[in-house]
Amino acid sequence: MAAWRGVFALLSVSVALTFGSPLASFPEHLRADSRIVSGWEAEEAQFPYQLSMRMVNATGGVTACGATIIHSEWGLTAAHCTAGRISIVIRAGTVNVTRPGLIFETTNYINHPWYNEDFPTVVQPHDIGLLKFERVLKFNNFIQPIRIHNSADKNRNYEGHVMTATGWGRTWTGGSSPENMNWVYLLGVSHETCLEAFRWSPIIQPSTICAAYFNVTSQSTCQGDSGGGLTVVDDDGVISQVGVSSFVSGSGCHTPIPAGFVRPGHYHEWYLEVTGINFDWSHTTPEPETEPDSESSESDSESESDSSESDSSESSESEEDPESKPEPEAF
Ligand SMILES: *[C@@H]1O[C@H](CO)[C@@H](O)[C@H](O)[C@H]1NC(C)=O
Ligand SMILES: *[C@@H]1O[C@H](CO)[C@@H](O)[C@H](O)[C@H]1NC(C)=O
Ligand SMILES: *[C@@H]1O[C@H](CO)[C@@H](O)[C@H](O)[C@H]1NC(C)=O
Repeated sequence: MAAWRGVFALLSVSVALTFGSPLASFPEHLRADSRIVSGWEAEEAQFPYQLSMRMVNATGGVTACGATIIHSEWGLTAAHCTAGRISIVIRAGTVNVTRPGLIFETTNYINHPWYNEDFPTVVQPHDIGLLKFERVLKFNNFIQPIRIHNSADKNRNYEGHVMTATGWGRTWTGGSSPENMNWVYLLGVSHETCLEAFRWSPIIQPSTICAAYFNVTSQSTCQGDSGGGLTVVDDDGVISQVGVSSFVSGSGCHTPIPAGFVRPGHYHEWYLEVTGINFDWSHTTPEPETEPDSESSESDSESESDSSESDSSESSESEEDPESKPEPEAF
């Protein structure tokens, strides 16, 4: 694994200052035109799903990452952000980390079993983890969940699609971390292009998605953006999270080489197992429908009609064969 160290760089970042100190006292000048890398400053409520995290380890070292809200009690992040950490301080409902709408702490995170927590400094596939908030978030304009990409589209080729990445990561390779959240457009690249960019590394799995610059070659995620969201406007017009920020090329953030994200649509069985919540959904799930009354026809005997009032967000299994329960399966 060490052979890959020069090729990949993880996107968590050490916070050099004591917790709570103003980040603006980093020595580097913020580049007026460089956000995330070469993105733009987010406005309040523009990305209400994005969380800031500070993770504290056993010796008091603090690192920074992002995460997303997927439910009032659950967040999604990168496993390398939380692996080996003792405590996680989460800020929600703000673009400005020194002025959080809500700040709270949790020690409860669950990383994917295929991620090896013994090697959090080595880039790995399946770099995904859940955060249990240990409280129930109240949603408002500034705090909202994001919809996770569905399993049906988990391997969809987003080559050329416009995507949005968000975070408080460095605004240049080796540069400073901003106080204000930044966002950037990226363009999806095909799996083949990504494999080629990373020299057919086994890090690039079907569960990896890569995205490169939009219209300025330096546009990218960077250290501190890990765990944050990569989103698209989905076919139905709703924003879906298609990536969890994980790594960039070892040659730096601002290069034209694509950045790497984990596709969250690959892990629905695991979310269900851990949270008891089915986050999967389908474009073809019938809307809570027209009710042509009629106790008619199709479902007399064996199908228990449990789906009659399910709200669309959590009912996607309902049209499967009635006896196939959602068992965990290899993917
Ligand atoms: C804690 O974090 C600091 C700063 O990142 C690091 O230098 C130190 O090795 C870490 N300690 C442990 C026990 O992981
Ligand atoms: C963030 O909030 C602090 C405290 O209100 C303020 O002093 C600072 O100027 C803000 N930073 C930005 C980048 O808006
Ligand atoms: C890149 O795209 C953004 C957003 O559409 C636009 O505001 C900006 O002017 C573009 N920059 C260049 C160099 O084309």
